[in-house]
Amino acid sequence: AMAPVIAIDGPGGAGKGTISRRIAETLGWHLLDSGAIYRLAALDCERRQLPIDDEALVAHAASELEIDFIPVDGGTRILLGGDDVSQAIRNEAIGAIASRIAAYPVVRSALLERQRDFAKAPGLVADGRDMGTVVFPDASLKIFLTASADERARRRHRQLQEAGIHASLPDLLEEIKARDDRDMNRSSSPLVAAEDAVTLDTTELSIEDVITRITALISKRH
Ligand code: C5P
Repeated sequence: AMAPVIAIDGPGGAGKGTISRRIAETLGWHLLDSGAIYRLAALDCERRQLPIDDEALVAHAASELEIDFIPVDGGTRILLGGDDVSQAIRNEAIGAIASRIAAYPVVRSALLERQRDFAKAPGLVADGRDMGTVVFPDASLKIFLTASADERARRRHRQLQEAGIHASLPDLLEEIKARDDRDMNRSSSPLVAAEDAVTLDTTELSIEDVITRITALISKRH
């Protein structure tokens, strides 16, 4: 049987990254940051100067991606072809390319098995857009995390500031709305809560509040 999976889906900036990492640490489980995989595919396209409207070419490159996730103190080092690109993939321009190529069904299927390979004992916390609907439909717990677009833009802004990256708040809000629109309206694996997901609106909740609620759900299910 496959290792147990907790799927945490939702739009960008809802706090999935931080919350998924904290839950994985608490449980001692593996972590899948599936957005990072799409970002790695995007960065790879940029480095190879591939025309990103060529679906077949982008999917072929995605199927050959050489990536590594190395757990380090308080985070993960992310490698592309041996280079540390942990910072480079967080760039907003790379996020925008990621969301464009993530709309291609051939790209999604090229990356499917790679994501499923993360499900190993003792368990996996999977963070993304379609973890509960497509990649791990049998997940033992599915959470759909949301927050208003304004709040998500503010959080992203703070996060970037803390990383020493300058960004304008109105630009971030525009980008978040454009990304939501692409992620929700694509025909292949659109961003939608699984039927059996528990939806948590985090607009008014702190990270600690959200973790407390998810931990309570976990102890009920496991
Ligand atoms: O979550 P993050 O912002 O890192 O994801 C980057 C982009 O990758 C998203 O905007 C989305 O288009 C895509 N993505 C996806 N499916 C996932 C995770 C991310 O389509 N499971």
